[in-house]
Amino acid sequence: MVGADDSHGADPATYDRYRELKRFDESKSGVKGLADSGIASLPRFFLRPPEDIAADRHCSGPAAPTRLEIPVIDLGSLAAGGRPAAVARVLEAGREVGFFQVVNHGIPESVLEGVLAAARAFHELPAEVKVGYYSREMGRKVKFTSNFDLYESKHANWRDTLFCVMGPEPLDPLELPLVCRDMMMEYSRQVKALGTTLFELLSEALGLKPDHLLKMDCAKGHALLGHYYPACPEPDLTMGTTKHSDPDFLTILLQDHIGGLQIYYRDQWVDVPPVAGALVVNIGDLLQLMSNDIFKSVWHRVLANHVGPRLSMACFFTLHLYPTTRMYGPIKEILSEDRPALYRETSLREFVTYYDSKGLDGTSALTHFRLVK
Ligand code: OGA
Ligand code: NI
Repeated sequence: MVGADDSHGADPATYDRYRELKRFDESKSGVKGLADSGIASLPRFFLRPPEDIAADRHCSGPAAPTRLEIPVIDLGSLAAGGRPAAVARVLEAGREVGFFQVVNHGIPESVLEGVLAAARAFHELPAEVKVGYYSREMGRKVKFTSNFDLYESKHANWRDTLFCVMGPEPLDPLELPLVCRDMMMEYSRQVKALGTTLFELLSEALGLKPDHLLKMDCAKGHALLGHYYPACPEPDLTMGTTKHSDPDFLTILLQDHIGGLQIYYRDQWVDVPPVAGALVVNIGDLLQLMSNDIFKSVWHRVLANHVGPRLSMACFFTLHLYPTTRMYGPIKEILSEDRPALYRETSLREFVTYYDSKGLDGTSALTHFRLVK
């Protein structure tokens, strides 16, 4: 039974990591299943390696010299003369921090609260019901999964995910679990519209026509990831999400009030504090590549917590699973003799295959596509 072994895995000589991963995977009940079984200590495959923990001590601590505040950008007055200021702030934030929060973005709080509640309702369905959605199949549009990189990563994360590809091909709502169907469809529609606005602002920030990134299909497809981080009995020993950058053009993240999201900025981990009603926006690897490093796709992570569950809903703008052959490279219009292309072109398929094969190993997938290393 999963959860029966609640020692840290004790004897290294007899510990069979693969067997333990498989046992966890085959339970199809995710991290929540383990948490519900009442374990007091983490199975060994969740433990961060000591060198990871040591690296953290080096780069955080009370003597932090920079107190970064994640920029908050007001989108409320775009039509009333506020657009140039918003574009300037998007450029500044995208270039310097890679992360910002948006307020007055047009998505009502009832929809924000509703979609998190819906995701929670899914994760809190009886295990027997959720089992039917559990999958690791690459091609599945809607799946419940835990640790997409379970077999590749150095350690597992304290997190389960409901993963749904919402476009470009419209998802048949009937594929979504009934408890979250209507809210996910509504949020999907609204977050796509917000994404469109953001790509227009990002295009302008690069000095391009507002529709430039849209014409490159950046808002054409998106996936919703409803993350569930159960309360963790030993949060200091694992992670909710290991440090990574996102394998997409752009991510719009809705987080609840618990906190734990951090970004890596100037050699330190900085909190992205929950702001009621706000959405967190971050540049993905593909937009860093297309912007030839003007925009930064930065490392971020989520701490595990005694308090929980924590819910978040990430919207990845990407053409995941869509058979596009379009090649993505640094945008020609922003290159010059002084600013030569820093990356080679790649197809989305090649990029995502490479990212997934690597798992969240603490390195950037972009390095693989960089011309000048
Ligand atoms: C992600 C991510 C952060 C969060 O889905 O890529 O970084 O707060 N999520 O869940
Ligand atoms: Ni992320």
